[in-house]
Amino acid sequence: MRLINPLILLTPLALLHHVSAAAQLYSTWMADSMIAHGVTATRWYDVATFHRSIEMVYNATSSPTYLKYLISQIDAILHTNGSIKDWDLTDHQLDNIRVGAVILNLYTLNPLPKYKTALDFLHDQLVNKQKRTPSGGYWHKDPKYPNQMWLDGLYMAEPFSAAYTSLFEAKNTSAWDNIILQFDLVEKHCRNQTTGMLYHGYDESLKAVWADPKTGASPRVWDRAQGWYLMALVDVLDWFPTGHPGYAKLRGYLDTLAKALKTAQDVKSGGWWLVMDAPYPGMEGNYIESSGTAMYTYGLLKGVRKGYLSGDVVEGYGKVAERAYGLMTERFVARNGTNGTLNWEGTVRVGSLDGNGDFKYYTTVPIVENSLLGLSPFVMASVEMEAYIKAKGV
Ligand SMILES: *[C@@H]1O[C@H](CO)[C@@H](O)[C@H](O)[C@H]1NC(C)=O
Ligand SMILES: *[C@@H]1O[C@H](CO)[C@@H](O)[C@H](O)[C@H]1NC(C)=O
Ligand SMILES: *[C@@H]1O[C@H](CO)[C@@H](O)[C@H](O)[C@H]1NC(C)=O
Ligand SMILES: *[C@@H]1O[C@H](CO)[C@@H](O)[C@H](O)[C@H]1NC(C)=O
Ligand SMILES: *[C@@H]1O[C@H](CO)[C@@H](O)[C@H](O)[C@H]1NC(C)=O
Ligand SMILES: *[C@@H]1O[C@H](CO)[C@@H](O)[C@H](O)[C@H]1NC(C)=O
Repeated sequence: MRLINPLILLTPLALLHHVSAAAQLYSTWMADSMIAHGVTATRWYDVATFHRSIEMVYNATSSPTYLKYLISQIDAILHTNGSIKDWDLTDHQLDNIRVGAVILNLYTLNPLPKYKTALDFLHDQLVNKQKRTPSGGYWHKDPKYPNQMWLDGLYMAEPFSAAYTSLFEAKNTSAWDNIILQFDLVEKHCRNQTTGMLYHGYDESLKAVWADPKTGASPRVWDRAQGWYLMALVDVLDWFPTGHPGYAKLRGYLDTLAKALKTAQDVKSGGWWLVMDAPYPGMEGNYIESSGTAMYTYGLLKGVRKGYLSGDVVEGYGKVAERAYGLMTERFVARNGTNGTLNWEGTVRVGSLDGNGDFKYYTTVPIVENSLLGLSPFVMASVEMEAYIKAKGV
């Protein structure tokens, strides 16, 4: 069933104004809806990404309900001695590391020894146990994806790695070097210098069926992978020391990507295509995808708010985000949940470099409702948009 939203006739900003003045903010409404739908506590990255959005809602509202929720979710996956339940020591993949950022946030609020045990363990798993390419980049997954780095992995590992380093070994230059190396490698192999966009991943050994013979890059720009990368940049910058030469590099990587996203935004809808590189936008089978759209909205707004984005185009990013946000509240936020809850639509289930990584592959993966991989970035984008509107005083 499709409910007609009478607000869609208004301009996006008027719409936002109306919605933010109304009884419910989308940030808490969508977060509460998902909590009501039920999220099984696991240490998996989709849940950890949802937890990150709840951290932001907690930070914005100071409502203890959200903190209690996070604590109960993390308690459910940790033994009382801080070891992580059901951990398989032979399974090395960056997706396993994302939960570290959630535990670290709880540790900063309440430094319990069990959290520290879990943090030390996860950091050791990452920096000492994860296999690396000859240049030092983390394999996305061992043994399944040898010598491959995927953009997704930067979000899974680096905000945690940066926060951990900042808290426990801030003076360790080689730890910071290791973090910047991960970004440098992805930039070197995945960035298209003409469009400013990044391919989904690369294989340093050039062996994958999809690997470009020179760069090792996969063939297509997938919106969510690039969204993970953007989120990694704006979150790592929160921790990265400004005096380290890597800081300016991260800012540069972010500027280039933000410009490319501004250019790539679909003029008609205000969203972004699932497969973003030419000639695919607008092509049959391709569509405006909700997780990428939410991630870009979040990343651009945060980049502006924190002053991470620079140059004469910065002003324009607010407008880009407003248009995208208008689209999301109109098309991807559905009011057909039970008991006044919202549903989140239009998120592609997965995208992997398991096959040949071509256009047909990405566009034939099913779209699912209430995917945490799109819903969580929408909550993050909403927290940022609500702060943006407040700052603008509209
Ligand atoms: C928490 O909120 C403050 C403003 O109230 C903001 O400056 C800060 O970046 C927020 N932190 C996170 C992790 O979102
Ligand atoms: C922590 O507790 C779990 C569950 O009781 C146990 O299996 C594990 O060996 C303990 N770890 C350590 C390091 O003591
Ligand atoms: C500093 O970081 C490097 C690289 O991660 C690590 O090998 C080393 O043990 C760290 N040193 C200290 C004192 O933490
Ligand atoms: C970069 O993108 C342009 C425009 O789509 C394309 O013509 C070019 O081949 C790409 N370069 C690489 C190295 O993939
Ligand atoms: C809710 O509405 C959307 C369209 O806005 C539709 O795609 C979705 O299937 C609906 N979900 C339910 C649970 O009815
Ligand atoms: C939602 O509403 C239905 C029907 O009014 C009710 O039976 C159900 O218990 C409610 N569920 C929750 C989680 O409140």
